[in-house]
Amino acid sequence: MSAPNRASTDCTVGFDAERARLDFPILQRSDSERPLVFLDSAASSQKPNQVIDAISKCYREEYANIHRGVYELSARATAMFERVRETAQRFVAAAESREIVFVRNTTEAINLVASSYGRANVGPGDEVLITEMEHHSNIVPWQMLCDQVGATLRVAPIDDRGALMMDELEKLLCDRTKIVAVAHVSNALGSVNPVAEISRLAHSVGAVVVVDGAQAVPHQPVDVQALDCDFYAFSGHKIFGPSGVGVLYGRASILSQMAPYQGGGMMIKTVTFEKTTYEDIPHRFEAGTPDIAGVAGLGAAMDYLTEIGLESIARYEAELLDYATDALSKVPGLRMIGTAPNKVSVLSFVLEGVHPHDVGTILDQQGVAVRTGNHCAMPAMEHFNVPATVRASLALYNTRSDVDALVEALLEVREIFG
Ligand code: ALA
Repeated sequence: MSAPNRASTDCTVGFDAERARLDFPILQRSDSERPLVFLDSAASSQKPNQVIDAISKCYREEYANIHRGVYELSARATAMFERVRETAQRFVAAAESREIVFVRNTTEAINLVASSYGRANVGPGDEVLITEMEHHSNIVPWQMLCDQVGATLRVAPIDDRGALMMDELEKLLCDRTKIVAVAHVSNALGSVNPVAEISRLAHSVGAVVVVDGAQAVPHQPVDVQALDCDFYAFSGHKIFGPSGVGVLYGRASILSQMAPYQGGGMMIKTVTFEKTTYEDIPHRFEAGTPDIAGVAGLGAAMDYLTEIGLESIARYEAELLDYATDALSKVPGLRMIGTAPNKVSVLSFVLEGVHPHDVGTILDQQGVAVRTGNHCAMPAMEHFNVPATVRASLALYNTRSDVDALVEALLEVREIFG
């Protein structure tokens, strides 16, 4: 396995993106003789050799089912799986490894909490508070819960920069609020929410805090104890790991009181036709054979980010975001959607007189990959009175030349559409 790019000493921000790019085979290829300018990492990030190799090694050398076999190969696979749990514990600074539950993705993690914690603790007349910037995966599970138990969904508004209105959120909190569910970083706008402050306010009325961390973990260090949240969810595929595997962090004192989400093998202690007793956490929430090689890849992805250093990545990306924001402001007729003062990675915009899908198609012809649409955040789009935006999202392997290619391609769109 090759060593990851390490902080370089001759770079002011302590990180060398050009070296990091060499870890990503897909960035070495070219489309129609143009290099790939990949600006859609908020949807799914590319994978470094370290992750690809870890998945391959798992299947080639240490694959067997886990927690079931008495033979050596199964014991090795089990040890690898549980080591990655400890890696995830360190990655989000959780107090204990049993607070880490492997799930399919952020969406499944939120559904797990809504289903298990929600149904047991939210009743008629209670309230669940979310924000106007949420991804559908942090809206719909709570709507479903509220419909099932007779509770009410409340929504804290955002301002016209796309920043959460904290005074309005505070006003919506009351003793009926049982759950506050927020994105750490908005996928559609890039706004960063003050999660530690939200936790303080939510806890003061006795509510638990659920954080959708999918868009935060690739860009900045996360410490769930400092954030003081009760649940924190993220997906492997956004942090340069595989799709199909993710993590739910849950505070042990809460997680251990929760009923299973799915029933099946490995989440039980004993089963008779009369009664089943359940495993302790976290295994109680991991029914069935998990994505074993996916967990190996996820472990390699977390190691990759940790070895480079998320502080260095955050500084590098902040500088790149400033450069990109300035460069895009020079494109005639471009309106940025989401200009919160605390923002990471995302440049969502509309181009006057051109539908976002047309912009995306022409950018693709120039070798620039961006996402266009509502980004699974229709209420956020509605706030800005647009059906869709073009979204360029940055990751550690993007450089100023990617931004320059984007601007050049947008000027080409301007040429075509006038
Ligand atoms: N949630 C992903 C995005 O923001 C798919 O594009």
